[in-house]
Amino acid sequence: MRVMVVPVLGDQERFKLDRSDDALFYAEPRFVHHLDGAFRARLTALYRQRIPPCAVVLDLMSSWVSHLPEDVAYERVIGHGLNKQELATNPRLDQHWIQNLNIEQQLPLADASVDVTLMVAGWQYLQQPEAIAAELLRITRPGGEVIIAFSNRMFFQKAPQIWTDGGDREHLDYIAKVLVAQGWPPPTIMAESTSAPGPMGWLGAKGDPFFAVIASRPLKPADRLQTR
Ligand SMILES: C[S@@+](CC[C@H](N)C(=O)[O-])C[C@H]1O[C@@H](n2cnc3c(N)ncnc32)[C@H](O)[C@@H]1O
Repeated sequence: MRVMVVPVLGDQERFKLDRSDDALFYAEPRFVHHLDGAFRARLTALYRQRIPPCAVVLDLMSSWVSHLPEDVAYERVIGHGLNKQELATNPRLDQHWIQNLNIEQQLPLADASVDVTLMVAGWQYLQQPEAIAAELLRITRPGGEVIIAFSNRMFFQKAPQIWTDGGDREHLDYIAKVLVAQGWPPPTIMAESTSAPGPMGWLGAKGDPFFAVIASRPLKPADRLQTR
């Protein structure tokens, strides 16, 4: 099914400083953590709470880690990203594919075939987020959801202007606006501080702030219409 895409951003807001192919930027694997231990622990706890073990999970814009609880086996975990070596190393992925989402937005997945899509520190690099949000609505099963998580850092040159110009609150509102414009019901917003792990945390040091936007696909089409 081809999806209808409702534009939200203007051309200027899609502009990024480094306009070279994103595949070049991600050509070499980065076996590093993009987010600190406090953020990752909060994210894993959220996944444990929200994702049922029988779920088909899509980790969109993934790397060598998916942050899922190690002791939970899901029906299937599908990974997507830009670096083959990172994805091949990720122990949670049953399958994966490579696709530059700033060039091609259509996802190679069937309608209503995914229960939960994860996107961690990825939305900030999307230049066509409306088309991705519309595709996510198409592939998500009724009752399923997307969990979009991020913190307050980025590869600045690779983020479009809508992201580089905004603060944390604007980022949350912007993601929600794009999702709702494509037919998702108003999402749940999370904004939390975290404590640095270990003694520094006991002394009051903060970890990476935790932000998430969680949108659920209604069970029936009629429910979806009522929310618009
Ligand atoms: C900061 S990393 C986060 C990776 C992973 N989600 C994690 O938690 O470690 C950003 C990821 O976004 C993905 N990405 C960035 N630009 C992309 C693009 N144009 N198309 C597809 N994926 C992209 C890459 O796979 C990259 O690994």
